[in-house]
Amino acid sequence: MEHIAIIGKGSVGRALDQRFKHAGFEVVFGTRTQHGNDEHPVGDAIAACGVIILALPYLEAVQLVSDYAIELVGKIIIDVTNPLASDWSPLPMNNGSAAEVIASRAERAIIVKSFNTIFADVMARAENGSTTFIASDDSNAAALVLELANAAGFAPVFVGPLVQARHLEALAHLNIAIALGQNGGTSARFQFERLG
Ligand SMILES: NC(=O)c1ccc[n+]([C@@H]2O[C@H](COP(=O)([O-])OP(=O)(O)OC[C@H]3O[C@@H](n4cnc5c(N)ncnc54)[C@H](OP(=O)(O)O)[C@@H]3O)[C@@H](O)[C@H]2O)c1
Repeated sequence: MEHIAIIGKGSVGRALDQRFKHAGFEVVFGTRTQHGNDEHPVGDAIAACGVIILALPYLEAVQLVSDYAIELVGKIIIDVTNPLASDWSPLPMNNGSAAEVIASRAERAIIVKSFNTIFADVMARAENGSTTFIASDDSNAAALVLELANAAGFAPVFVGPLVQARHLEALAHLNIAIALGQNGGTSARFQFERLG
């Protein structure tokens, strides 16, 4: 059974913790300060787990993977981040993506983009079934994350190499634009459906 470290105990971190714990996985948090038994210094959480979920703001995530590049060698990183400015607008990524920047800073880790298109409010719901897209250059890591997502009650869809994160981050920006600009709220989701 995979041990999962979630870096960041905000809305997304807590929602994914619920889903993965419910599915029977061992989950620990990597946090800047420790208050509960499940909260550990980031380096300890990374050392204890093979799968690391980045559930913190994008720029903080870039700094963190740079700081822990050595500790992250060989680990599977699930990048949940969206590159957002403080007003929720997209940060300019120069035709790249947050996932590719993170991959460039943690060169010897294996990066998988997933869960970034689902609002935390939706992730937190039991009996989830929400589509989570998966992009990675590493087919074994993608298959593992697909298995984890499935076990946690999501409906995973592999979309190809990490470069596809550009589209996944754009999809998240659209979700946010509907939620904020069109009063859509965060109890909404994109579902992928193949018609027979
Ligand atoms: N909210 C959503 O619906 C949603 C959906 C999909 C993806 N995302 C993405 O997921 C990420 C997390 O979003 P969120 O809504 O969960 O944010 P959030 O509620 O603001 O929580 C962010 C967490 O990150 C922690 N953090 C920041 N810097 C850190 C560091 N250097 N080391 C350890 N922890 C650190 C913060 O801890 P402190 O208490 O120490 O500040 C906080 O607990 C973001 O990149 C966001 O774009 C969000």
